[in-house]
Amino acid sequence: MSTPRTPLIAGNWKMVLDHQQGTLLVQKLDWTLKDAKHDYSAVEVVVLPSHTSLRTVQTLIEGDKLSIVLGAQDVSAHDAGAYTGEVSGPQLAKLGVRYVAVGHSERRQYHGEDDTLVAAKTAAALKHGLVPIVCVGEALEVRRAGQHVEFTVAQVESALAGLSPEQVAGLVLAYEPVWAIGTGEVATPEDAQEVCAALRGAVGRVFGADAAAAVRVLYGGSVKPASIASIMAQPDVDGALVGGASTDAVDFASIVRFRDHPA
Ligand code: PGA
Repeated sequence: MSTPRTPLIAGNWKMVLDHQQGTLLVQKLDWTLKDAKHDYSAVEVVVLPSHTSLRTVQTLIEGDKLSIVLGAQDVSAHDAGAYTGEVSGPQLAKLGVRYVAVGHSERRQYHGEDDTLVAAKTAAALKHGLVPIVCVGEALEVRRAGQHVEFTVAQVESALAGLSPEQVAGLVLAYEPVWAIGTGEVATPEDAQEVCAALRGAVGRVFGADAAAAVRVLYGGSVKPASIASIMAQPDVDGALVGGASTDAVDFASIVRFRDHPA
């Protein structure tokens, strides 16, 4: 039995916009999508602002009753306490944040986040009612060595260890090959499908067929309006995690409307 999975398009703004720019972007995105009569029950639209912009974007979303969903780029593994600079799950949940990216390759690469910390952050997100978007992906050397499937499957198995099948069914995985992030280098749709299918297969082996059918798997890495349709045409790709193109309302709206483009 297959579970219908609502496509999810998430915009990772990284450390690019301040809160005023973020507010303008969300307003423009909303107008652009409304103009095109976007059906939010057909594609879920999420934005991941910097922590400094969460409050203003939340106020806008709530005040104007927008259907855009709020996410954050990172969460602490700890609930509260002396962790200078960190932002906790309860703090994010209180702000109306629903999704949180965990284990983005830039966190792994520049902040030394390892699989153990990524697993702790995933558990912390779930504990506080947030939906983790668990990011995995291989570096170029790993792909050249033909190890990309084993590598990303191991990252997912480690991040999800100890969770229940129900928890896994409700979360989101994002396959982002490191060599394709911000480089203009997009994995081919077949590359995306190969790994996304392998990740779903790994979920099935460990957590069962229902969790595998329900878990949403995104592709990320230089997604643009011109490349989204063929990526979304892949059976195991349920959406995209978009960086650079998500800070332009017109491009991001065009990605959200992937069904309008020829595959
Ligand atoms: P990019 O970033 O679309 O700019 O490659 C994707 C990401 O890092 O989430």
